[in-house]
Amino acid sequence: MTTTLRRSRILGMGSYVPERVVTNDDLKEWYDTNHEWIVERTGIVERRWIAEEGGETNSDLAVHAAKAALEDAGVDKDEIDMVIYATMTPDHAFPGTGVFFQRKMGFSKPIPCLDIRQQCTAFVYAMSIADQFIRTGMYDKILVVGAEIHSTGIDRRPEGRDVGVLFGDGAGVAVLGVSDDPDVGLMSSHLYADGKDAEILWIEAESCSNHPRISHEDIDEGRVFPKMEGRKVFKNAVTRLPQAMMAGMQENKLTLDDVDMVIPHQANLRINEFVAKSIGLPPEKIHNTIHKFGNTTAGSIPMCMVDALQEGKIKRGDLVCMLAFGAGLTWGSVFLRY
Ligand code: UT7
Repeated sequence: MTTTLRRSRILGMGSYVPERVVTNDDLKEWYDTNHEWIVERTGIVERRWIAEEGGETNSDLAVHAAKAALEDAGVDKDEIDMVIYATMTPDHAFPGTGVFFQRKMGFSKPIPCLDIRQQCTAFVYAMSIADQFIRTGMYDKILVVGAEIHSTGIDRRPEGRDVGVLFGDGAGVAVLGVSDDPDVGLMSSHLYADGKDAEILWIEAESCSNHPRISHEDIDEGRVFPKMEGRKVFKNAVTRLPQAMMAGMQENKLTLDDVDMVIPHQANLRINEFVAKSIGLPPEKIHNTIHKFGNTTAGSIPMCMVDALQEGKIKRGDLVCMLAFGAGLTWGSVFLRY
């Protein structure tokens, strides 16, 4: 869909990662793995995890990132009209993490908090939802949050090594507001889902069809941990990501020359390199952070965007494509003039 009258734009962004660095060699404490395999197959060198004794919550990470985003935007927290909170690793099963975040932020008004769970594609979905609220005129300023704590949900048993080495903790936040320039802001969003392969990347337990929802057997047999058929997911990613990007390019009548930077989800460096090559995108036009943060699912796109901004790779006026793929399966793109 094309934006016409009122358009949203990113006013500012911020990110946060826990202090603890976990290197590939550190993972040998749990897994029969090695630095060379992880770097060669994924591009990951290290990731951030919360302290082993815990303490930090998903909403804590998001508060740090949101404060940085508000400062970057020059916006006071009490100007915010709504929170859209994307995560697959919530503080609790319910209520949604958005309300814990809201309480910690100390907003003076009871602003609405909408939690969404589209896994690695969640930030792209969240940006699109926020854009709709702003375009219709219902809200002026929205915090779009992508935050995850994976380290406490990873299978640390030897058989968990294929998934366990991939994920990290972190958060990224965008402040979306009304654009005062018709040429600046979100141009399009294309969102997709196909549930036929839902079980190739999922967590089986807990499940509302079981009573109790989690059993001792679920824990003993590892059904509480994420499971992935890596190759199938990889193949889907490298076909769906270019499709989502092409849909946005067609709608906005863009060529690859018009695109200044692609900010892709960070699941695997090989996926992003494959996608860039398959569509003919020069490597300098795609930014990656997977080497230092691993896969932070809903957090990965805003964290990657902040990193690109900090490195001076995106400036005001640049044309940016956010590109995501993940469990569900879900995928999508957002094109914006920053
Ligand atoms: O963010 C959501 C979306 N997620 C993705 O898009 C992830 C998509 N998938 C992938 O990125 C890749 O499939 C992985 C990185 C997960 C795995 O890479 P792969 O090249 O597909 O490896 P594989 O699963 O086919 O395993 C190859 C070998 C196996 O050994 P054999 O059977 O060849 O002897 C695995 O047992 O590598 C072995 N292996 C490991 N070795 C060392 C699997 N995990 C590890 C490990 N360390 N951590």
